[in-house]
Amino acid sequence: EMDANERAFQTRIEADIKIEPKDWMPEGYRKTLIRQISQHAHSEIVGQLPEANWITRAPTLERKAILLAKVQDEAGHGLYLYCAAETLGVSRDQLLAQLHSGKAKYSSIFNYPTLNWADVGMIGWLVDGAAIMNQVPLQRCSYGPYSRAMIRICKEESFHQRQGYDALVKMCLHGTPEQKEMAQDSINRWWWPALMMFGPSDAQSVHSAQSMAWKIKINTNDELRQKFVDQTVPQADYLGLKIPDPDLKWNEEKGGYDFGEIDWDEFYQVIAGNGPCNKQRLSDRVKAWEDGQWYRDGLMAHARKKAERRSA
Ligand code: 3HC
Repeated sequence: EMDANERAFQTRIEADIKIEPKDWMPEGYRKTLIRQISQHAHSEIVGQLPEANWITRAPTLERKAILLAKVQDEAGHGLYLYCAAETLGVSRDQLLAQLHSGKAKYSSIFNYPTLNWADVGMIGWLVDGAAIMNQVPLQRCSYGPYSRAMIRICKEESFHQRQGYDALVKMCLHGTPEQKEMAQDSINRWWWPALMMFGPSDAQSVHSAQSMAWKIKINTNDELRQKFVDQTVPQADYLGLKIPDPDLKWNEEKGGYDFGEIDWDEFYQVIAGNGPCNKQRLSDRVKAWEDGQWYRDGLMAHARKKAERRSA
């Protein structure tokens, strides 16, 4: 039985009136948002690592400049999302401690290795393509700070996807046979993990029902996954790349593609921390945090001195 506060809150949600930091909100709403926004921020920060691997190895100066700009954008998305999470009464240090201790999740996709330059194009096209599919609806999420952060982030994501696809067009349509093979090997490795980005099936999703009632989640995991497949298959056809799914078939009356079953054991293993690169990603982040301790100490000392001068 809802009490007056909860009824008023749900009325606002139904009326699509944004919930702002100072508004009353159910504890579960706050907790779900802290969980999702912080994990989203962690995804942006950890997501820089697979691509960083190729900044010094980019094939041309132009590709290096583009990749630098994209990775820098991801850092900004992370900081933006940590700010949105902080409006819910949690500190950045707490959130980072959860990431570094292995307690917090980040998107499963970043636990796969980037073995060659085709992977960098594949990440832009497939991973950012999936991220856009998942983030566009979040612009309409009921929590003001998260929705506004998403509006800004979605604008930059379209550049990320475009540059990845452009790199693949170069390799697949204007490159050598070896480059075409590299791209085919890459999609063989990244296709299924990209589908896993959308989360478990609706039947297995533990948060979807409540997140949809609170308009945190606007579409279900399977809906967005289906939209992603329907949009991406024609692009793969254009590139002349074969999608590694023998069950992929156009279904006329559904108006979409039927596709094979995802390897859910792999998905749950990766989000439990046992993917190919989980340990490496976490140790890279912990090392970066520890290496930056002197700098944070300097900033705090400087801020203290400034405050003392002001009050002297
Ligand atoms: N990776 C890691 N964990 C995942 C996951 C994935 N791909 N999909 C689901 N999970 C976790 C959930 O966090 C939850 O675990 P928890 O209770 O410990 O947090 C559990 O699996 C059950 O899944 P649910 O579907 O019930 O959970 P959600 O309702 O939270 O839905 C989600 C999962 C769709 C990923 C949702 O959390 C979401 O939309 N998150 C924000 C957007 C996001 O993170 N997008 C991908 C990031 S990629 C990116 O942004 C970088 C890009 O710029 C390249």
